[in-house]
Amino acid sequence: MQKQAIAWERAGIQVGFVPTMGFLHEGHLSLVDLIRERSKILIVSIFVNPTQFAVGEDLEKYPRNMERDLALCESRKVDYVFAPETKDVYPSDASTFVFEEKVSAGLCGQARPTHFKGVTTICSKLFNLCRPTWVALGQKDAQQVVVIKRMIEDMHFPVEVVIGPTLRESDGLAMSSRNSYLNERQRIDALLINKALQSGASLVEEKDIRNVDRVKAEVMTVLRQGSLLRVNYAEVVNRETMELENEIKPGRSMLVVAAWVDSIRLIDNRLLG
Ligand code: PAF
Repeated sequence: MQKQAIAWERAGIQVGFVPTMGFLHEGHLSLVDLIRERSKILIVSIFVNPTQFAVGEDLEKYPRNMERDLALCESRKVDYVFAPETKDVYPSDASTFVFEEKVSAGLCGQARPTHFKGVTTICSKLFNLCRPTWVALGQKDAQQVVVIKRMIEDMHFPVEVVIGPTLRESDGLAMSSRNSYLNERQRIDALLINKALQSGASLVEEKDIRNVDRVKAEVMTVLRQGSLLRVNYAEVVNRETMELENEIKPGRSMLVVAAWVDSIRLIDNRLLG
């Protein structure tokens, strides 16, 4: 992969890149569409990255379907799928990791303390292997976007991040490969996450409320309706830094929620204003 990517680089051919863990859905494919035009070569990586899962998380049962993923990539005119094996990405004697310390510390990083270290490590490896000019990331993983952008800047990767909007199912659930875990009953409670975000946002957008606690209380009221839901966090953050906001600034503040439906952890967010 790297030899080929260097050859493209030398020939002045610019690469667009969509990193994924497979089990592709329309959200991933919309990222392909987003950078298709500008990319002479478009690569999708499919790799369930073990280092971003902690012990006891869903690494083993993470949904996989390579055949279907390849067909979807072909249908969307992806030029190359890079699907390495774990032993090639992480040689057994590997002892180097990339760790962003600040943005990674809060929100999802608190519940999953090793998660972003795995994400930044794999992304830096994938960037070095595929040498993209553009990487497309989904807004649904808002904290991941900020962490990766920070790493790109700090480590001087010559990569530009292009962010794609969150795609939703017809019932409003944010698209995620993990949605496939949800049974009918669990899905009813999972839908409360989007409903809570909408209720919080309507206070800001329709009633001009700028008080963070008031909006958070509204979000929690909706989330508490779900008997299977356990809230990890519901916060208002600055979309560019992920720092907690003291006051809502429309266009800058973002409502972010993480919750477990039984043992299934889901995240979602919504820009306020
Ligand atoms: O968002 C994901 O699917 C993963 O975190 C990523 C960016 C592909 C790294 O493994």
